[in-house]
Amino acid sequence: LNYTEPYRPQYHFSPNKGWMNDPTGLLYHDGTYHLFFQYNPGGIEWGNMSWGHATSEDLTHWEEQPVAFLARGYPNNVTEMFFTGSAVADVNNTSGFGVDGKIPLVAMYTSMYPLSQTLPSGKEVLAEQQSQSIAYSLDNGKTWTTYDAANPVIHNPPTPYEMEYENFRDPFVFWHGETQKWIAVTALSKIYKLLIWTSTNLKDWSVLSEFGPKNAVGGVWECPNLFPLPLSSNDSDNKQITKWVMVLGLNPGGPPGTIGSGTQYFIGDFDGTTFTPDSGSVYPGNETANWLDWGPDFYAAASFNGLPAGERVNLAWMNNWQYGAAIPTDPWRSAMSIPRRLSLEMVNEKVTLLQRPHENLQSIMGHSDVSHSWNTVSEGSVDLGSLGKAFHVSLSFADHDSDSSRASEFAIAVRGSFDFEQQTLVGYNFTSKEVFVDRRVSGDVAFDGTFGSIYHTALAADCDGRVDLRIFVDWSSVEVLGGKGEVSLTSQIFPDGDSTHARLVSVEGSTGDVDIRVNGVASVWE
Ligand code: FRU
Repeated sequence: LNYTEPYRPQYHFSPNKGWMNDPTGLLYHDGTYHLFFQYNPGGIEWGNMSWGHATSEDLTHWEEQPVAFLARGYPNNVTEMFFTGSAVADVNNTSGFGVDGKIPLVAMYTSMYPLSQTLPSGKEVLAEQQSQSIAYSLDNGKTWTTYDAANPVIHNPPTPYEMEYENFRDPFVFWHGETQKWIAVTALSKIYKLLIWTSTNLKDWSVLSEFGPKNAVGGVWECPNLFPLPLSSNDSDNKQITKWVMVLGLNPGGPPGTIGSGTQYFIGDFDGTTFTPDSGSVYPGNETANWLDWGPDFYAAASFNGLPAGERVNLAWMNNWQYGAAIPTDPWRSAMSIPRRLSLEMVNEKVTLLQRPHENLQSIMGHSDVSHSWNTVSEGSVDLGSLGKAFHVSLSFADHDSDSSRASEFAIAVRGSFDFEQQTLVGYNFTSKEVFVDRRVSGDVAFDGTFGSIYHTALAADCDGRVDLRIFVDWSSVEVLGGKGEVSLTSQIFPDGDSTHARLVSVEGSTGDVDIRVNGVASVWE
């Protein structure tokens, strides 16, 4: 593949051509990671929604596969679009779709019907209706058969929500070991509710409970994910506690300082029927939320089914509905974030969802191109030379209380032009104790009035008084993971091709105990 167009991500997945939005149907099965994605095979704007497909053995090298579900009737007479959903391996063949001992992979997705019609199953749907359907594959995800005999398997929203049939979507299905049943979570987007469903065979579903509205309720609620994670504890008795995490997207209504879409989560318990958030995870009113990412470009986060118990890896659409269709890329639009490993830990006495870069990324990182320590970086800047366009930075430094000789801010400028008139700043404000990403002069920002902004979130120093930042830079993105992964800030940038310069900047004073390590990241497309 010749992935050298301007802004083409070198180690993030992007479709060869065409529009992409949500990751969907993430599944690890039989040694292969499957990434499906909302896809328009006919253009670089949203439309003709189909499921594109890519596979990987290691979560870093992806191979694009033929479209898994092509919008029915594409291109001239689309009668069904395949919206976001999820996928499972039905290892016990509860669905009966398996033949000759082959394990069926089953996808559950939202059917969006642009026109009212009577379906092959005899069911009738209204124009713009959203219902939940299933399909199966007997060749490890290569080809799929929609279950036309009975689709949609969840035809209408339950009483009293029948009127919400145009905003009823994004089933996330998983096997619940304790009750030996399938569970699915769907969104009633306009009324900020999630519904939890159960089934023994993936075909017949009944509703169990509902969740929401809680915390942030801007725009619509979409793309729920529900999964268990062990809570790492330092307790001497070492007893293992499992908590459940509910992740969902909001559009618009992302974190403070962003415009457009964003992702929030809740931590709580799930007993097979009801998700009950911990009191520490819910805030009065609808203003505060637990944000999974504080940047503008991390939406429709989804996690892989099929990993060993206790493991979760997620990734998200690295774009934003505010300007998604205006970003200056061609002949594709949008990329996925890096894969991140999720864990739950106590941070400042609060159960917190951590995101760490997946360890496989190590395999595409080069040796340390720059590795340096300073006792003190004085006021001003330290030139780091050219770092290229795709690299990883590990940066740490001492936090300090501001006194007159100490800096007010410390930052690294990446993807800078020779004169740093163009740059993206990733840094820390010692007064507000916030990490920030400033993309105001990051390159092409003109395609949307809200794009050139600063994003920030609180990050406390670790117990040694240090601030740790891991920064993943690609040809058109910057992902910052702070601390142990308790904060994440994901942003697209569109710098000039020759903006490869970097420097450290200590503002209004000096910064102590600075360590930096930079690794080039290899293209995964060569
Ligand atoms: C989220 C979303 C989903 C929907 C899909 C359609 O980005 O709006 O709710 O299923 O995109 O492409």
